[in-house]
Amino acid sequence: MKHSIFKLVSSLAILFAITSNCKIMGQTSQTDAAIYKKIDEQIKQMTLEEKVGMIHASSSFTSGGVKRLNIPELTMSDGPHGVRIEQGRHWDAGNVHVNDSGTYLPTGVCLASTWNPKLGYAYGSVLGSEANARGKDVILGPGINIIRTPLNGRNFEYQSEDPFLVSKMVVGYIRGVQDQGIAACAKHYLANNQETKRGSINVLMSERALREIYLPGFKAAVTEGGVYAVMGAYNKFRGEWCTENDYLVNKILKKELGFKGVLMSDWGAVHNTMEALWYGTDLEMGTDLGGVKYNKFFLGDTVITLVKKGIVDERLIDEKVKRILYVMYKTHKFDKRPVGSFSTKEHFATAKKVADEGIVLLKNNNNILPLNKNGIKSIALIGVNAARLQSEGGGSSQVRTKYEITPQEGLNRISGSSITISYSPGYEIMRNGTANKQLIEAAVEAAKKADVAIVVGGWAHGYNNYAWRDNAYDAEGIDKPNMDMPFGQNELIEAVVKANPKTIVVLMGGGPIDVSGWVDNIPAIVQAWYPGSEGGNALAEILFGQINPSGKLPMTFPKHLSENPAYALGQYPGDSVNVLYNDDIFVGYRYFDTYKVEPQFAFGHGLSYTKFSYSNMNVVPGNQSATVTLTVTNTGKVAGAEVVQVYVKDDVSTLKRPEKELKGFEKVFLKPGESKKVTIALGKDAFQYYNDIKGQWVLEPGKFTIMVGSSSRDIRATKGIEIR
Ligand code: GLC
Repeated sequence: MKHSIFKLVSSLAILFAITSNCKIMGQTSQTDAAIYKKIDEQIKQMTLEEKVGMIHASSSFTSGGVKRLNIPELTMSDGPHGVRIEQGRHWDAGNVHVNDSGTYLPTGVCLASTWNPKLGYAYGSVLGSEANARGKDVILGPGINIIRTPLNGRNFEYQSEDPFLVSKMVVGYIRGVQDQGIAACAKHYLANNQETKRGSINVLMSERALREIYLPGFKAAVTEGGVYAVMGAYNKFRGEWCTENDYLVNKILKKELGFKGVLMSDWGAVHNTMEALWYGTDLEMGTDLGGVKYNKFFLGDTVITLVKKGIVDERLIDEKVKRILYVMYKTHKFDKRPVGSFSTKEHFATAKKVADEGIVLLKNNNNILPLNKNGIKSIALIGVNAARLQSEGGGSSQVRTKYEITPQEGLNRISGSSITISYSPGYEIMRNGTANKQLIEAAVEAAKKADVAIVVGGWAHGYNNYAWRDNAYDAEGIDKPNMDMPFGQNELIEAVVKANPKTIVVLMGGGPIDVSGWVDNIPAIVQAWYPGSEGGNALAEILFGQINPSGKLPMTFPKHLSENPAYALGQYPGDSVNVLYNDDIFVGYRYFDTYKVEPQFAFGHGLSYTKFSYSNMNVVPGNQSATVTLTVTNTGKVAGAEVVQVYVKDDVSTLKRPEKELKGFEKVFLKPGESKKVTIALGKDAFQYYNDIKGQWVLEPGKFTIMVGSSSRDIRATKGIEIR
């Protein structure tokens, strides 16, 4: 009985796999048709053992090849913001590059803060070129999980709380990587929005939250970015492991979205042979660190036995091998790939550009910034993060980089001999560190004597650079305990600003931190994220006005953690089994604006050293669409860039909708006095929502309000329209 059930399900799974592939076949371009023809020939020559050898890891970062048929291993490497440290065979397929070092790009949240999709492409190009130069075929990025709670340890690797911004930034990144002949890998599919219990937690969310919030980034990665690989997440989704999930992988990713590439597991994320075979896992990745030899993985020898016993149809394996070979063809494993390059000055220049445009000026009272090089003689630079290297922290996204300019180095370079910069750590990064009185006193003394004090603090990757977890704050495998500034930084900042009212605070890290204790007394605050190899130079040039900041927050900074919707409405981190996403679609500003909760700093917020005016806003309704036009003028004295944001409100809807939703944006660069007409098209999807009672996207005709603004809370003009 059991046997026949397996056979039945197996053939159904086969049927699905083949039909979906035929659907793909039918839709593929000529090149794909030629590719599939070659693949079919290759598969015909392969033994069952050779096929199974391809669907699981052959080392920590390779999947099996078939030497006899000149099919190479598929080689991959982390991570989303740089090619990872190689540590010999364990992490690397015998790659000889174990001592070289690459470009440390600003992490995901900094890229997203640029709101510049073209930079996403440049960023991806660097990543693809360097992965290629390192002999890799797949770069394991971008990380695009929605930033649902400020405490997630991996927010720094991700992009935003808003699916539209993620969708726009991820496409450029993927195309940039893949135009270098390298496969990008969108991860972690899906709803891996916390590190706490990531390997066991079962995420429960409505279909509407899935369709409107958590899926769109992956949908854009597949349907617009054409991503060649997707990584299944560690967690469960509605009771099934994400990486072997019939609904997420077979029905949505492969059938509905037409994904042609490889669904690989996260490392060690496969739990069951039959479920992995039937529910969409194409490649089981992991390490043999746990003592399990690669051929003993769930998709190893067991599969050979199951096929030989007639329990599993071999065509199910063929479908997986087909996808892996497809990625090999698309990454030119069988022909000539463009030549990659490593650690070039162009790559570091791209890293700098992303930092220049991604660092966010949160507050600037009385224009204390930019600093006037001729007006100040001394700076008290305070804070461990001013002098700390970040690149090799955080977990699997670690990068050994050729160089990393710290804020201290950047400020020393820019100030030259005309300004004396004293440095004091101010606090100590240590387990459950509290305020260190001596360090604070030293910092206060320095601040008293200086014209300006700059405190560089915020989050940290770990207690030492290589410690991923180690009770770190921004790291894989662990979430932050709360949103309070660690290591006694609040006491430090309060003491310093008392000693010198001209105190600037620079926050580093992957997301919000509780600044409520001192935010009103500090005249200027800058969010610097983890700004990459050139981050110190970018920050220094922004502080001294050589660069006019244009970054905008890709997530809301709440005043207090309790006001974050995952706490106020939902569950985080959940109980021992489930985490209920009762916050549903009200993630980030969708919650703060709908429930009228004042954030510390709003989604889309970011100041400039110049001013922009918005005028002549007009909205022309079309057929279930609209075109927004307006004029933006730089009314200040310096050149700058403004991110014009378009939000849509459905004035009347059957189901409750958010107060506003981002449905368009454009970054415009303007000289002083220059004006530019901005045109933003709103398609049908700008007005629809997912009615999960009907199980479909709906556009309910009626009144909508179109808002344009400099942030979700700085709306400059609105227009009401009727959509028919
Ligand atoms: C890790 C991460 C994933 C990474 C992979 C390989 O557990 O979750 O992002 O790419 O394993 O290091």
